[in-house]
Amino acid sequence: MNGRRPHVTSVTAWPGRGSEFGTMLTSHVAGFLRAALVWLVLGTSLGVAMAIHPVWAVYRTAHFHMLLLGFVTMFIAGVAYHVVPRFTMAALASTRLAMVHLVIANIGLALMVLGFCARVHGWVPASTALAVGGLLSALGAWAFAWNIWVTMGRTVVPPPRPAGARPLPQATR
Ligand code: HEM
Ligand code: HEM
Repeated sequence: MNGRRPHVTSVTAWPGRGSEFGTMLTSHVAGFLRAALVWLVLGTSLGVAMAIHPVWAVYRTAHFHMLLLGFVTMFIAGVAYHVVPRFTMAALASTRLAMVHLVIANIGLALMVLGFCARVHGWVPASTALAVGGLLSALGAWAFAWNIWVTMGRTVVPPPRPAGARPLPQATR
């Protein structure tokens, strides 16, 4: 140990601390949930700033896209990527596409926020930032829709229980 903290890569290394949660949370799911929380903090911070300084209400389009596209939509995506493969008992159609979605959705939204804010000041590149950001966000949404749709199409239907067979033991938690 040579006097230094052991290198800990995940919370699962700590006994008794949410080990199941830590092992089950895949990187794209954790990425979406973290990104959603960051957008929640940023979006509500801008909301409070607008409430305190009403002139800044000109930034409301940035504010509510941070919250609706950033927090609400990304949290829904993170939860859906986690639960849909479990509900369908099929692997997610493409985890790589889910990672691509994570990256382009966040770059896209950051560009949209920049564009919405800069547009107010008449900066010429604002509409380009908004257009590119909007396209990236839309591509992310389409990738998400395809991934979840295809995963649902692969739903595994368990075989019927033979007559007289005992039910499988239920998980206790
Ligand atoms: C700390 C929390 C929040 C604060 C202090 C806040 C504050 C504000 C303020 C000051 C405005 C501008 C109102 C105006 O036009 O003068 C606004 C607009 C708006 N906010 Fe928030 N907000 C908060 C959270 C949220 C959340 C969580 C959402 C959605 C999930 C949201 C969605 C919106 C929308 C859609 C508008 C635009 C309304 C319109 O243009 O008619 N806000 N907010
Ligand atoms: C690809 C993603 C998206 C793009 C590119 C996009 C783009 C835009 C643009 C350019 C506007 C007009 C802003 C203005 O000039 O006033 C707008 C308005 C708005 N968007 Fe989005 N948006 C997206 C996703 C969403 C989502 C997911 C939500 C909600 C869950 C949402 C809610 C709204 C609302 C409430 C307005 C205001 C409508 C109004 O003032 O009448 N947007 N959006």
